Amino acid sequence: MAFTDTERNPLASLEQWEDDLLVRYPEPEHKAKEEYRNYDDPARDTVREFYRLNHTYQTYDFVQEKRAEFLKFDKKEIPVWGAMEFLNTLVDDSDPDIELDQLQHLLQTAEAIRADGHPDWFVLTGFLHDMGKVLCLFGEPQWAVVGDTFPVGCAHSDKIVYPEYFAANPDSSNKDFNTKYGIYEPNCGLKNVTMSWGHDEYLYHITKDHLPEPALYMIRYHSFYAQHREKAYDHLLDDHDRAMFKWVDKFNPYDLYSKSPVTPVVSELKPYYEDLIAKYLPSTIRL
Ligand SMILES: [Fe+2]
Ligand SMILES: [Fe+2]
Repeated sequence: MAFTDTERNPLASLEQWEDDLLVRYPEPEHKAKEEYRNYDDPARDTVREFYRLNHTYQTYDFVQEKRAEFLKFDKKEIPVWGAMEFLNTLVDDSDPDIELDQLQHLLQTAEAIRADGHPDWFVLTGFLHDMGKVLCLFGEPQWAVVGDTFPVGCAHSDKIVYPEYFAANPDSSNKDFNTKYGIYEPNCGLKNVTMSWGHDEYLYHITKDHLPEPALYMIRYHSFYAQHREKAYDHLLDDHDRAMFKWVDKFNPYDLYSKSPVTPVVSELKPYYEDLIAKYLPSTIRL
């Protein structure tokens, strides 16, 4: 399918999606000023257009295509720190004075986890969790890299943000896919469920043989807000998922609320993170 540049990249930066998440899910002590949907901001229209594209084109077949294309891992073989530097070449139109770069978001997330005394693999997970955004550097549209994720192959929950845009998704009129369970069995477990395609699923496959199970859940489902915030897909979860989602819940505030104007000094932190990478991950990874 051919898309125009604005259809590929409706957002000025990937952070616009994350900034919007903060409006939708503000820190408990900061109550939302207004009803989320009435929040008035020009960036709002951009985010809405981003979700329109995401919800229209993330079909079951689209996900299968992307999995076939990217889970071959034939694009690059590099050390993890090199992959982070590669990710950091992702420059966008946003104001460089106020936006943190990708590496700074990852270090702030990880350092907040570390400051709370969590195990080292949890810290490493904070550091790695958005590495899958390198998909953008392979020319992928923003709506196939970031955005809330959701199961494909069954009905779209109306608890997913902007559910009305799923009307244009061909799966919504496919009777195999548009029932509560669709192609799945009740409580079949997320291991049997295909999620919409993006940086979460991609990084899960890169790291799945190397990190502890709770870390893999945090990576794979950190953008699955319809479940970890809204509990919209309890009917697909099994007991193992329910136990593991406690970790996803623990991770989410670090992702959303660790942003700080104080930027971490990369050169000071690099040795610690290089050691952590060496402890858990192979010397190179394939993208
Ligand atoms: Fe993310
Ligand atoms: Fe993040």
